[in-house]
Amino acid sequence: MINPTDGPALKRFLTREQIHQRVAEMGAQISRDFAGQTIVLVGVLKGAAIFLADLARAITVDCTFDFVAVSSYGKANRSSGAVRLIKDLDHAIENRNVILVEDILDTGLTLCYLRNMLLQRKPATLKIAAFLDKPARRLQTIEADYVGFPMPNDFVIGYGMDFAEHYRNLPDICWMPADVHD
Ligand code: PRP
Repeated sequence: MINPTDGPALKRFLTREQIHQRVAEMGAQISRDFAGQTIVLVGVLKGAAIFLADLARAITVDCTFDFVAVSSYGKANRSSGAVRLIKDLDHAIENRNVILVEDILDTGLTLCYLRNMLLQRKPATLKIAAFLDKPARRLQTIEADYVGFPMPNDFVIGYGMDFAEHYRNLPDICWMPADVHD
């Protein structure tokens, strides 16, 4: 395991300042779009937890939180389309303004599954906020309504994103060195 505080071992993709700035912009946009209304932020555990915590504090309209968890068999298996719900919402979302919050939109399988599931519950609106977007990896057609940054098909860690459950607490988003994850 590499030491995340080892400066030379990790190259920054996005610094904490860049992240903070973009999250503030996304929160301002969402606040404008939902002015005078109430939002339910639905975080997808575990990767989205840190982004949701920051995004919520950048939103100035009334909002509540809820969380879902889906099975994570690893990317190789996930591309088979097998997404399974592990933890459902605690509250009904009928007639509510829902924003699904993700750290990263990759193949799109997770968000397609969750979007279909949540739409059946008849929310007033359903939007998607993804901090990172890897459009080149998409297996299902889905776009986020609010995107922090598009990125190439590279492995990144930090700001909620993990390698074998580690590094989620890095304040910056860093490239995972190829010799570690291959
Ligand atoms: C990551 C991320 C998204 C999903 C996106 O979760 O948080 O939920 O992958 O990938 P997709 O677009 O290909 O479906 P992961 O399975 O790594 O679990 P985690 O959130 O617990 O890190």
